[in-house]
Amino acid sequence: MKTFQVNGQQGLSYIHVGESLSNINSYIPPGVTPVIITDENIKGLYGNKFPDGPVLTIGTGEKIKTLATVENLLKQLISLYCDRGSFILGIGGGIVTDIVGFVASIFLRGVRFGFVSTSLLSQVDASVGGKNGVNLSAFKNMVGVFNQPEFVICDLDLLKTLPKAEISNGLAEIVKHSLICDADLLAFIENNRQKALDLDRDTIFRLVADSVAIKSRVVQQDEKESGERRKLNFGHTIGHAVEKLNQDKSNKEQQVQAGHGRAVSLGMVAAALFSQKKGMLSQKDVDRITALLKGLNLPVELDYKADQIIKAASRDKKKQGSSLYFVFLECLGKARVEKISYAEMNDFITSVFT
Ligand code: GLY
Repeated sequence: MKTFQVNGQQGLSYIHVGESLSNINSYIPPGVTPVIITDENIKGLYGNKFPDGPVLTIGTGEKIKTLATVENLLKQLISLYCDRGSFILGIGGGIVTDIVGFVASIFLRGVRFGFVSTSLLSQVDASVGGKNGVNLSAFKNMVGVFNQPEFVICDLDLLKTLPKAEISNGLAEIVKHSLICDADLLAFIENNRQKALDLDRDTIFRLVADSVAIKSRVVQQDEKESGERRKLNFGHTIGHAVEKLNQDKSNKEQQVQAGHGRAVSLGMVAAALFSQKKGMLSQKDVDRITALLKGLNLPVELDYKADQIIKAASRDKKKQGSSLYFVFLECLGKARVEKISYAEMNDFITSVFT
């Protein structure tokens, strides 16, 4: 096991990579019975390993990440007579942890909480760093708070029940971390691609641990995203636009196929091409990124038209007037954030995606 920490403005957070859900009782405050919030899938798969305590469940899928779900959970906490001494344990992927972190942060103006992170995407990204919240209207993560969980348990054994598409979704965020910060990690993924897809224990341990190391370091420098943390949005400006367009696809299989990591993969290819256009990356660099993503069963070709992407991107919550912070790659392993106009980004999108 490896432990990382983030010393957030509202408290210290420990992220334990390689720890097991079975040891959860040693992380819960002594003498406190936690309220567990999870989803039906996770409860069905791992409910027998949960600690004692009431279990509240939510549905699955991005569409339940709403204020209505939050209100429902808050009412259930009231019915359970929870008070300031309560502890809330979120067990699930990024949707569960985003919602639980928000609920715990606003219930009675904040109660203690921790996570057991069950998906690769949430272990390497969503559950780490203290961003909690829900979507509102068409806007992703529009309402929320920065607040660090007391702990995040990244149990690698729980990844074994994930659909293969979900493994690829998580690998997209790991590739992102390598591209923005760590050329050695990039080479490691390239050399261990199949082992990563097969969840080989040592490989996945290194990938999750290196990602958490990168993310916790960046968050420690800039918890509230006023500078360095923006780099973590590499591939996300166009990626979020693609994700919004994908959300119209309604059946469950299509939603996994259209998951966050897959959208980020397309966003990273677009951002790499934009970096090339700006003279930062070579064609060889772009080809290397594309080949790696393809090899991880991630999409690299957009099937939306330029005007659809431009429209969806204009609704990004990070929009600041007519400009935005766009994350480029200066070289493989190093990101650069530049404030550019929407007009410049839209010209780029039009030039590449007819
Ligand atoms: N997923 C990007 C961040 O946590 O800042």
